[in-house]
Amino acid sequence: MYNKKKFKITMKIKKKKILKIIKKNKTPIWIYNWNIIKNKIKLLKNFDTVRYAQKALSNINILILMKKIGLKIDAVSIGEIKRGLLSKFKKNDEIIFTSDVIDKKTIKIIIKNKITINAGSTNMLKKIGKKSINHKIWIRINPGFGNGHNKKTNTGGKNSKHGIWNIKKAIKNIKKYKLNLQGLHIHIGSGADYNHLKKVCIAMIKNIIKINITIKSISTGGGLPIPYKKYEKKININKYFNIWNNTRNYISSYLGKKIKLEIEPGRFLVAESGILITKINTIKKINNKKFILINAGFNDFIRPCMYGSYHKISIINKKNKKNKKYIKKKKKFIIGGPICESGDIFTQNKNGNIKTRKLKKIKIGDYLIFHNTGAYGSSMSSNYNTRPLIKEILLKNKKIYIIRKKQKIKDILKLEKKIF
Ligand code: LLP
Repeated sequence: MYNKKKFKITMKIKKKKILKIIKKNKTPIWIYNWNIIKNKIKLLKNFDTVRYAQKALSNINILILMKKIGLKIDAVSIGEIKRGLLSKFKKNDEIIFTSDVIDKKTIKIIIKNKITINAGSTNMLKKIGKKSINHKIWIRINPGFGNGHNKKTNTGGKNSKHGIWNIKKAIKNIKKYKLNLQGLHIHIGSGADYNHLKKVCIAMIKNIIKINITIKSISTGGGLPIPYKKYEKKININKYFNIWNNTRNYISSYLGKKIKLEIEPGRFLVAESGILITKINTIKKINNKKFILINAGFNDFIRPCMYGSYHKISIINKKNKKNKKYIKKKKKFIIGGPICESGDIFTQNKNGNIKTRKLKKIKIGDYLIFHNTGAYGSSMSSNYNTRPLIKEILLKNKKIYIIRKKQKIKDILKLEKKIF
């Protein structure tokens, strides 16, 4: 039924394996490969702590496997704290709560589980200080500048809501409420360009000098990019580590004690491990434009619509010569989903202008695979258009595990109580 030519995709699953999966499971579907995640983790072995930013891909099975090989995690909401606890990350600093705000319910669970806080506002310091003397905290500094693959992922500087600008005021509160300062954290953007890394390191050093109180660790935050496009280069991890390591050594000698170096990646660890498999529902010709409409929408995968992100797309053809719609030559297509909103287009730039993608040999019923979708794919899905969250599959040691079932529409509707 299918063209079984051997073919490897970025995440190195053979086409045969994909076919096996989609024979048993309906698309759209997320597939991750644990081996890739494991290998990416190994690349960061020089850091004292690798703290996974679970917002990138937060399935508890991924967290459990990461815990088993010694990672710690970052949580940014009560939901992510609960995921961490469920995945057996325990007290002290195995989970760090990073935020700019905190509410009563979160404070309660944080105190109960002795979770360290990475505070992005002085208000947070006051709130936790009033309830928990000597609580372990970090300060997330906003150095006054930022970076990122998109304006929306730039988390430093004047236009960013994140982090503490006035570190001296923060230190005053730390002393006033007898909080236990562990370290300084800096995360200035996701998918950042590391040419400006030295500037970030200098900002860290300047802040250490300003606070004039001792700490145990520094954190580089996340932001490590991955190559989404063919011409994009992989980040040089050794170079990246060396720059931060020199910074750490400088700080260690300044403070006269050993300082630990943490890194907090999300995308770097999981992006390349994941693919999204979708099916072509229809092919439409409107004037001279050809639209491929697939069965996944921006509720499933929002990056292309939200940031104009590029993801490599490959095809799995159904072999069926009778199908006259079979298109042989490479042609330009616009790829959209089923959402009732015209912006539901996977081929657009960051200003929302429609772009095309050259694809060959496609027909209705074929599968389109979106590559490098392990990070901020499934974790950013929503129920828009009352569409359920889709299934997640993990490949590990040649086995196929369903790590999340498809949500049922009736479970979405259950939350709404008929009142009238
Ligand atoms: N630490 C903090 C405090 C963060 O805010 C983030 C990401 C990370 C670590 C991990 O950053 P990463 O290593 O993944 O770049 N939805 C966007 C990315 C938003 C990232 C937000 N913060 C995207 O799809 O590109």
